[in-house]
Formats: sequence, C-alpha cells, structure tokens
Amino acid sequence: MTDSPFTVAIDGPAAAGKGTISKQVAAHFGFAHLDTGLLYRAVGARTLTGEDALQAALALTPDDLHRDGLRTPQVADAASQVAAMPAVRKALVAFQKEFARRPGGAVLDGRDIGTVICPEADAKLFVTASAEVRAARRHKELAGKGLTVTYDEVLADQLARDARDAGRADAPMTQAADAVLIDTSDMTIEQAVARAIAEIERRMTGDA
Ligand code: DC
Repeated sequence: MTDSPFTVAIDGPAAAGKGTISKQVAAHFGFAHLDTGLLYRAVGARTLTGEDALQAALALTPDDLHRDGLRTPQVADAASQVAAMPAVRKALVAFQKEFARRPGGAVLDGRDIGTVICPEADAKLFVTASAEVRAARRHKELAGKGLTVTYDEVLADQLARDARDAGRADAPMTQAADAVLIDTSDMTIEQAVARAIAEIERRMTGDA
C-alpha cells in the first residue's frame, strides 16, 4: 500500500482474463479497482430500455454499476455499441481519470486505459488470449449462470464485438506501445496473475 498514486492500466479483448487479473492484482497491492467496462455496460443497459445513450452516460451514478443483469451478452453488445459514440466516451472520461489518480493506487481495466484514459500509467498490461480460448471461457461462464447459448454463438458475438471495439475511430482497443503483452491462452489464472504481479513489481522497483 502506498499513499502516492500508482496507476495500473490493464487492457485487452473480452474474456481474456483481465477482469480476474485486475481484481487479484488490486487485492495483492491494496489498490482500488475499476472495471471500466461496467460504465459502458450500465449505459448500454439503459439504452435497452429506450433511454438515450448520452443522457444515460451523463446521468450515470456509482449505483448503476452494481445493478443486476449487466453481464448478459445483450448488454455486452449494447455496451460495445454505445462505446463507439465519442460523446458517450467523453462523458465518462473525467470519472475514470479521477479514479486513476486516487491516493493509495488504482487498477483500471478496459480497452483504452493505457492509450487514452491513463497514457501516463505507471504499469500497463495488455491481456489477450486466442479467440477460441476466450469463447470457451465465456461459454462456460454463461452456461454456469444457466444461460442457454452455444459456443459458436459466443464465438461469433465475441468476434463481432472485438472487431467493433478495435475498429472504431475514437479510442479503439489497441495495445499501448509501452504495454507488456500477456497471452493467457496456455496459462492458468494463477499463472496469469503471478505474471501480472511480477510485471507490476518490476515497474515499482524501476527494474523494467
Ligand atoms: O470489458 P467488458 O466486456 O465489460 O466491456 C463491455 C464493452 O464496453 C466492450 O465491448 C467495449 C466497451 N469498453 C470500452 O469501449 N472501453 C473501455 N475502457 C471498457 C469497455
């Protein structure tokens, strides 16, 4: 635990393991954690009930991030769609930047953290895995929640979402030039977390 801000940026495509890694890294270092995908999911969920995306983004409150139903494939798709709107992204920037600077350290995970939200982050990771491995993981997770969806549907949804997230003009998902790439395809979650912690420690001690 440190009193000065230390920002960890973790980006990457859906179901690569960034969420789990971010949570465990934050717990390890005693940092606060923000899953920035939840911001877009909360806005996307509100558009599914007919609300205007920008109005929803401007009216977002921390409570909106804890609502049920934000983890469904429908909300993920709506999130990716509102995330392509520059005005929506702009409305969510200040909150994220402020979170990143909080004393005691912060981990933010998303798509544009190392490139747009925190280009000065102290440590940057880009966590990825093959499309097939990611789809298999997400399929297992959704099936575990009782959702009836096939592996092929999950894979197709994920490829479409990744293409939209990486292809949009404003803040596309991309690896920052100074981010460390972690491919978790052949790693257990314990191995991936250990690798992430080691990379961050190298930056803390100035060994990187
Ligand atoms: O990480 P996630 O799957 O919960 O994110 C949902 C969508 O939100 C994702 O498809 C793209 C968007 N997103 C984004 O554009 N920028 C971020 N920093 C985080 C998420």
